[in-house]
Amino acid sequence: MDAFRIVGGHPLRGSVRISGSKNAALPILFSSLLGGSFSLSNIPCLRDVKTTLLLLEQLGIRISVAEETPGLRDPSPGSDSSWSDRLEISEGETSSFEAPYDLVRTMRASVLCLGPLLARRKKARVSLPGGCLIGARPIDMHLKAFERMGATITIHHGYIDAETDGLEGCEISLPYPTVTGTENIMMAAVLAKGKTTVTNAAEEPEIVDLADFLVARGARITGAGSSTIRIEGVDRLDPVHFSVMFDRIEAGTFLVGAALLGDEVTIREVNPAPLSSILDVLMAMGAEAESRPGQITMSAIRNPRGVSIRTLPYPGFPTDMQAQILPLMAIAKGPSTVVETVFENRFTHVMEMNRMGANIEIHGSQAMVRGGSRLEGAAVMASDLRASAGLVLAGLIAEGETEVRRVYHIDRGYEAIEKKLEALGARIKRIQEELP
Ligand code: EPZ
Repeated sequence: MDAFRIVGGHPLRGSVRISGSKNAALPILFSSLLGGSFSLSNIPCLRDVKTTLLLLEQLGIRISVAEETPGLRDPSPGSDSSWSDRLEISEGETSSFEAPYDLVRTMRASVLCLGPLLARRKKARVSLPGGCLIGARPIDMHLKAFERMGATITIHHGYIDAETDGLEGCEISLPYPTVTGTENIMMAAVLAKGKTTVTNAAEEPEIVDLADFLVARGARITGAGSSTIRIEGVDRLDPVHFSVMFDRIEAGTFLVGAALLGDEVTIREVNPAPLSSILDVLMAMGAEAESRPGQITMSAIRNPRGVSIRTLPYPGFPTDMQAQILPLMAIAKGPSTVVETVFENRFTHVMEMNRMGANIEIHGSQAMVRGGSRLEGAAVMASDLRASAGLVLAGLIAEGETEVRRVYHIDRGYEAIEKKLEALGARIKRIQEELP
């Protein structure tokens, strides 16, 4: 298995292009199950994207890679030697409607095939995603919404069997602003008969990107980005070319790297609006950000201050940035607290950071960070995608050498992160982990 070997303490300088958003690309790709054809650009070269493309091909979607650019994204090893900045996607034969366990278990976002399959093929058989390290992550809200829209849902042997004579629009009030739940319902409603109103909807920018894409294809959607989304069903969707938004979590990750070790680090192809809660926290810790059209420049904070934050649904501070902000809090001059309100077990990275010299205590959903630590390099184990990013950032600031193991997690959501960091001056190499 791959690992990263990092020698800490080297400043980061220069500019880095932020890739397309994983969490916008995935629902947009799954919406291909609604039929028709379209083309996409700015799709990131990620493990989760390749898993999605594989699943979609098994479900009869035709995907061709246009304008292939060898080595364009310097993809993670073991993958093909090139990536495309443009995917041509169209509906093929629509016989299959099953998302098998061996794919769903590797990527929970596969549940995003449920809504569009029900809407277009009136049938879906999807393996229950099961929990993951950060929490039980049920999908009860997705399933209840589909039942309200006229689907019959049964669960047998770990699979969801769903079918309908035809989805009907209705009022859906979500108990929690679930991100993929909102996306699944939106996609189902796009071809349903009549109007659907979703209240307490998630407001994430990736949901706005999905809605913008579907509207560009002729869907009738208003209110995306607010807590109330209205969709009026249409008969079919038109062809379009669409470029996916930037990845705000990758952008936030590099901003924290700049706040730790930056000497004028610029992130490119971004816009500040979706980053405002992350920028607010970094500036409260003492960072200064210089914004120009499409880019943000930041340097290391001389004496970072401690802060208290809560992770919240958008526009609050994102749970997907919680692991990444902790190394900066660990070295800050004062104490910090982080309350994790979204997932019930998203502090697994803390034990590894404490092995590097951080001083973080966990009390239920709260992390108390003492601050004032000098992190030391160590061999650490990545446990999930964003925990991996937090450990890489800790390794960059730590004294000496850090080995982050099981970096296949990070390849799920960051495009060649070690290449991008190396280009900024970090001492980081991908190595083969010596197994005992
Ligand atoms: C999306 O996951 C993201 N994934 C996650 O990013 C992100 O952490 C999460 O939203 C929160 O922002 C994608 O977009 C592909 P939720 P999702 O449904 O939709 C509970 C990453 O690193 N819940 O908003 O699965 C759930 O248990 C990933 O890129 C129910 O109880 O998250 C959780 O506690 C990690 N029942 C909370 O809501 C449901 O039916 C938020 O979950 C649905 C959710």
